[in-house]
Amino acid sequence: MSGPLMLAHLLLERQSRRPELPRIPEPALVMDDLAQNAAFALAGREDGSLAFLYLYHALQITPLLCPGDQVLDLGCGPANQLAQIARLNPEARFTGLDASRQMLERAEETVARCQLANIALQAGDMTTLNGFADAAFDGVISTMSLHHLPDFAALAAAMRAAQRVLKPGGSLYLVDFGRFKRAATQRFFAADRSDNQPEALRRDYFNSMQAAFSVAELRQATAVFGGGIACYTTALAPFMVVIKSSERRSPDDAVRQTGRAMYAQMSAALQKDFRLYTRWFQSGGLTLPFRLY
Ligand SMILES: C[S@@+](CC[C@H](N)C(=O)[O-])C[C@H]1O[C@@H](n2cnc3c(N)ncnc32)[C@H](O)[C@@H]1O
Repeated sequence: MSGPLMLAHLLLERQSRRPELPRIPEPALVMDDLAQNAAFALAGREDGSLAFLYLYHALQITPLLCPGDQVLDLGCGPANQLAQIARLNPEARFTGLDASRQMLERAEETVARCQLANIALQAGDMTTLNGFADAAFDGVISTMSLHHLPDFAALAAAMRAAQRVLKPGGSLYLVDFGRFKRAATQRFFAADRSDNQPEALRRDYFNSMQAAFSVAELRQATAVFGGGIACYTTALAPFMVVIKSSERRSPDDAVRQTGRAMYAQMSAALQKDFRLYTRWFQSGGLTLPFRLY
């Protein structure tokens, strides 16, 4: 992430009196494009360009989960994010759900590569969650998948389905892009992350920002969960939006050590991105659950 130029775009977003840009749904709602999926899966690996973002959200999710929890991940994709969460929470069990068979094959590769025994994968549609019993899960999470839904009605249906399968008082963590007001900001962020990246990833990134729901839409759809959830955005403009329930435990020493080891394993450039991203969310009110560095 490049600091000064990014700040300039964020200030322009903040000052703009325009409404958010119109939403343009993803060209591929369910991700079935081989090249795009391969680029996305590579970027999400521990050494990929998205690794800092995945570690950040894995750390945020950890205090929401307890040993023995059953957790559902809506739109797990290649399971790079899910693998980091599962590594930090070895005593919780995760079900990664995706509508794309191809993505689930990538996810199987990730689970095998990371040697994780606490992830099961399942094909399914997050807007219905057919086949899952009411109150079947202690936690529902979703990372960067909601913008793949075709419209607000589908988002609302997915949130109703998630509320149905979540136990009363269960944990919720949703993160996704937010919609900007300026196309220039969208172009900037797509280009900013595209250095040394395949063109498929830059396109994917740009499409994602265009397809992002607005903060108001995300708040409206998640109102179904009632009180007890909070909404945070990156400061100045909603590059990312997090909607989460309250923490259920303080991370123990084992979790802290694993988190620090995961941070230490990242390259210096990814660590820098991680610190910037952490400060950006912190200025929006969301702090890390424990010190990493
Ligand atoms: C951008 S990927 C995010 C993957 C992963 N959560 C991550 O953070 O890397 C979005 C995923 O949502 C899946 N998806 C789209 N619509 C879906 C639906 N209705 N039900 C389940 N999965 C869906 C896509 O196939 C894709 O794998």
